[in-house]
Amino acid sequence: MEYQIALIRGDGIGPEIVDSAVRVLGKVGEKYGHTFRCTPYLAGGCAIDETGVPLPEETVAACKAADSVLLGAVGGPKWDQNPAGLRPEKALLGLRAAMGLYTNLRPAKLYPALAGDCPLRPDIVANGFDMVIVRELTGGIYFGERGRREGKYGPEAYDTEAYSVMEVERIARVAFETARKRRRHVTSIDKANVLETSRLWRETVHRVAADYPDVTCTDMLVDNAAMQLVRNPAQFDVVVTSNMFGDILSDEASQITGSIGMLPSSSLGDGTRGLYEPIHGSAPDIAGQDKANPIATILSAAMMLRYSFSLGEEAAAIEAAVDRVLNAGWRTSDIAGEGAAAIGCTAMTDKIIGEL
Ligand code: IPM
Ligand code: MG
Repeated sequence: MEYQIALIRGDGIGPEIVDSAVRVLGKVGEKYGHTFRCTPYLAGGCAIDETGVPLPEETVAACKAADSVLLGAVGGPKWDQNPAGLRPEKALLGLRAAMGLYTNLRPAKLYPALAGDCPLRPDIVANGFDMVIVRELTGGIYFGERGRREGKYGPEAYDTEAYSVMEVERIARVAFETARKRRRHVTSIDKANVLETSRLWRETVHRVAADYPDVTCTDMLVDNAAMQLVRNPAQFDVVVTSNMFGDILSDEASQITGSIGMLPSSSLGDGTRGLYEPIHGSAPDIAGQDKANPIATILSAAMMLRYSFSLGEEAAAIEAAVDRVLNAGWRTSDIAGEGAAAIGCTAMTDKIIGEL
């Protein structure tokens, strides 16, 4: 089969890690007889520099026409002072909205080989953990009405959160379907003791849960969830939550895996076309030095094979190759631990390709 992949290499370490994933895809294609045609498009800071806008129309059109999109990272200090509409992050939010990618899957698990990097006490993670955060990605406070106005105490700013029943229902279904392929437990995270959107969220999740009697469902308030993630992460299987809470909790979950450089993500809508990206940022401090960890992006490419192209065997082959390289002791500097020897982005990619 032949697949068209739009690449958004982006800023900072983005180009290095995307190129690594493309090399891995090339190897998979060779081994399993597929062609992955990868075409780069501009988005983020580099697009601002070259075209004046973070998300050129051409990029949106190309991403909507491709079979899937692989993205590195966007942003950097160079554009931090730009006005809201001209920030690199706008590219990411714009693409999610334009492509209708309302489901963000962020798996977080403890690799036994990296257990030493986990900042939690060994007894807390004695049995590891393996969860997937299902984050709603095109609604809530990220996309609500916002602005500036004169308030009771003078000038003020506001952002609003709105969720429709439809939006909660469809993301809840994704969570329950995901749980059916795992350990059949959903934790729905909200702030229903305070927020009206959370009360609607909770009611709706309960209604959907009735269609999945084989899956257990627990509600958890977001402040408690933040605590439970570091107290007993093994209790989580599938977590479903709003855009904002998912943003925050997924960074917390990534940190307890040992390195944010390990975590892939997928963003999907109703069809099979998705956007796949590491959950980390553009790391401008190490950009261009061949120091970045390419694993999150390589695992994101594996998720693309599984979720967008139904190539489960090929995806599993990439994941197994990553496992073997880690088990053999190879590390990039973010996961090397104090004073241990580390290899660069290119060498890590070579090792993974070697295992394939
Ligand atoms: C993420 C990022 C983005 C988000 C930013 C860069 C807009 O933090 O993907 O988690 O908040 O969604
Ligand atoms: Mg985030």
